[in-house]
Amino acid sequence: MSRDPFLADTEGLDPRGAARILAEFPSQCRQALALSASPPLSRASLRHVVVAGMGGSAVCGDLVSALASDRLPVPVTVWRGYGAPASIGPGTLVVAVSYSGATEETISTLEAALGRGATAAVLTSGGALAALAQERGLPLVRLPAGLLPRLALGYLFFPLLGLLESAGLLLAQAPERDEALRELELMGKELGPERADADNEAKRLALALRGRVPVIYGSGLTAVAAYRWKTEVEEIAKLLAFHGSLPEADHNEIEGWRDPLAAGFHAVFLRDPEEDDAVATRVRLTGELIRASAGGVTEVWPRGRGRLARLLSLIYLGDWVSYYLALLRGVDPWPVPAIEEVKRRLRAAKSRR
Ligand code: F6R
Repeated sequence: MSRDPFLADTEGLDPRGAARILAEFPSQCRQALALSASPPLSRASLRHVVVAGMGGSAVCGDLVSALASDRLPVPVTVWRGYGAPASIGPGTLVVAVSYSGATEETISTLEAALGRGATAAVLTSGGALAALAQERGLPLVRLPAGLLPRLALGYLFFPLLGLLESAGLLLAQAPERDEALRELELMGKELGPERADADNEAKRLALALRGRVPVIYGSGLTAVAAYRWKTEVEEIAKLLAFHGSLPEADHNEIEGWRDPLAAGFHAVFLRDPEEDDAVATRVRLTGELIRASAGGVTEVWPRGRGRLARLLSLIYLGDWVSYYLALLRGVDPWPVPAIEEVKRRLRAAKSRR
């Protein structure tokens, strides 16, 4: 009988318990439904919503932006960087999101947005961002502290939905939300470390990706999940990963797969039962064309029927795959020493100026 490589060989690699935090993600989402802004955000007439954040904190904005594109009359865009886009002003809602509250780019965007008369709200667990929100009397959702931003997506995402709803922008009705939470709860039981690889989709995918560079493709809703997979593989498994979207990749990237180096890359297509027929055809054709040169080609399907369930289930699966890839690579999924070192050096450079 073949033995599960995760059970025997990876002991001691997760001393801080990232697996427990991942397993608790569905209940984190339920708890997050109770988090709200104080003071509340009032209903406003908006022409644009901008979610400002970096890294693990910005992802909730990507999710909302994807969900909003065919549901809301105003665009939701994500701003990652210093300052603010020229379009920000009265009529814009800027939600500054930083789990730690210490991210300088996000603080600078909030300051710029306030200077231009935008409506603003803040999502954070504390830090300078919480202090600024309190000083300016801004709606502030105070998040439970102690997690890593990338493992706090439930706390970041659901209150962001709630903020938009207070502003009159409803993105997901209660039944759609409840279905998503139920699917996540089922997945939490199916993907955890105690389930052997033969019966665990996340472990199987991690084993298939082992030794290759993942290239994750999505389209529309799933393109957002593809980007999240890439960043989770990088931060959790400390492995370079890439993402792309269809149909765009068929107009450029597909040529790159002809290179003999493509044997070191594994393409993962995030599918969606609701994707356009044209996209489904492209996934099939693209897979056929790159199969001979790629190190592997895999398709992954979401769970549930509603858009929220489909999106969150793909993201949750990717988080677990990244976790198991970390274990297979012999790395602790929790720390991000390179990210911390950049931040440390930035602070040092700033204090010398
Ligand atoms: C670390 C992580 C990073 C941070 C980013 C911004 O787990 O995910 O991508 O999210 O460095 O920091 P915060 O989220 O605190 O604003």
